[in-house]
Amino acid sequence: MSFDLVLFGGTGDLAWRKLMPALFQAFRHGTLPADGRIIGIGRDDLSAEQYRSLIRARFDKVELAKRPNEEEFTRFAALLEFVRMDLTRPADYARLAATLAARQTDTVVMYVATAPALFTTVCEQLDKAALNNAKTRIVLEKPLGHDLASNRAINEAVRRVFSEKQIFRIDHYLGKPAVQNLFALRFGNALFEPLWRREHIANIQITIAEELGVEQRGAFYETTGALRDMVQNHALQLLCAIGMEPPINSHADAIRDEKLKVLRSLKPWATEALTQDVIRGQYASGTIAGSAVNAYRDETGVNPGSQTETFVALRTEISNWRWAGVPFYIRTGKRLAGRDARIVVNFRPTPHAIFNSQIGMANRLVINLQPKDGLELHLMAQGQSNRRNSQTLSPVQLDLDFDKRFGSERVGAYERLLLDVIDGRLNLFVRSDEQEEAWRWVEPILEHWKNDPQGPRLYAAGTWGPSAASAMIARDGFCWAEEC
Ligand code: BG6
Repeated sequence: MSFDLVLFGGTGDLAWRKLMPALFQAFRHGTLPADGRIIGIGRDDLSAEQYRSLIRARFDKVELAKRPNEEEFTRFAALLEFVRMDLTRPADYARLAATLAARQTDTVVMYVATAPALFTTVCEQLDKAALNNAKTRIVLEKPLGHDLASNRAINEAVRRVFSEKQIFRIDHYLGKPAVQNLFALRFGNALFEPLWRREHIANIQITIAEELGVEQRGAFYETTGALRDMVQNHALQLLCAIGMEPPINSHADAIRDEKLKVLRSLKPWATEALTQDVIRGQYASGTIAGSAVNAYRDETGVNPGSQTETFVALRTEISNWRWAGVPFYIRTGKRLAGRDARIVVNFRPTPHAIFNSQIGMANRLVINLQPKDGLELHLMAQGQSNRRNSQTLSPVQLDLDFDKRFGSERVGAYERLLLDVIDGRLNLFVRSDEQEEAWRWVEPILEHWKNDPQGPRLYAAGTWGPSAASAMIARDGFCWAEEC
């Protein structure tokens, strides 16, 4: 199969950090179809050779095991071309059309990794240049808008040019191997399904913690914040994966229909819940891995009086038969105590105790997304130290480390998603109605914050966020997994 991948934003941050390394990994693994071409698009006046050198230099920042050697890079570089474009100029699309016409490939992927303000323009111009035929696929990077109205406007503009089955909306969390394994755990095994419900599960916690701050993206982050950047998309997609009903088959729409139902079942926000069940924070200075780091307000591009949240913790419920009354907690933030993304499923304790065990101890399933990738099942057992008192139980952990089990050469999120686009598989991409439903659900929070004079609570960098997040969960009689 032959393909052309046109990368709008070909000299942007995402291309350097994620897309080129992922394409190279697919090339190295032999999964990228051999008859392919990657066309970087940018405003700079670069020859193909200069573009290749820039990419070569950027690969030096990639972790060692994923860096190409000279021979590999030379072969990979043969796929790379560059077209200079001003994305608002029709004549530039005509040049792109000529470049594409020179090679009649089976598939043309238009990957729009630009500022979202350009999405509509790019689609309209592709249409005018007759670059939207049946073999074209369009990939849109988040953020797709900053609220429901702007999200709808983008989706409508894109759908005027492309049909839904040509549109690949990326949420790279869906490409993470751990998320594939969550689907496998739930729908490829019968073991957990009878337990996967309100009768057996006390609460579910989704944590996406980052050690990094906003890095070079202060200006972007100022108008975005953690709710839009992480909760509206990544965290809610994880919540769907953990809470959805088994789909009728593995086709994209069957999966998306079930995810959509979860989003539609999220408990609507009452005023009291907006005050008590949503905590926002912002990092102050502190220490990460032994080094002092700046407060968010001192980062480049950030307003010194900024009210933007870098942390969110919230409690919600999925109002349906399976989950009624089970709290789902979502927590995400920058400059937290560690890089740690995981979903913790806390089962209910035994209904009657015949052993001595600490009050509140119960089984727990941890789905580790990163940096570890695997499952932990926490069970109660009698250990060696219990010889003298056989009535005492202590928790033990069963570990399934997928990196060890399947090797470190596993397919990364972007690698997987890029290959899926080239092959036309939509399962791991987000449909417009899912996106809109997610925006509809977060909007009351954004509205509430606009009128809330309190602003985000400060937390020291290197901690788990404001203590109010612990108080919120404690009100239900629970605690975050690292606290108990
Ligand atoms: C992106 C956010 O979508 O996800 C970033 O815009 C965040 O702010 C990143 O750092 C986290 O992705 P990962 O894969 O490193 O957890």
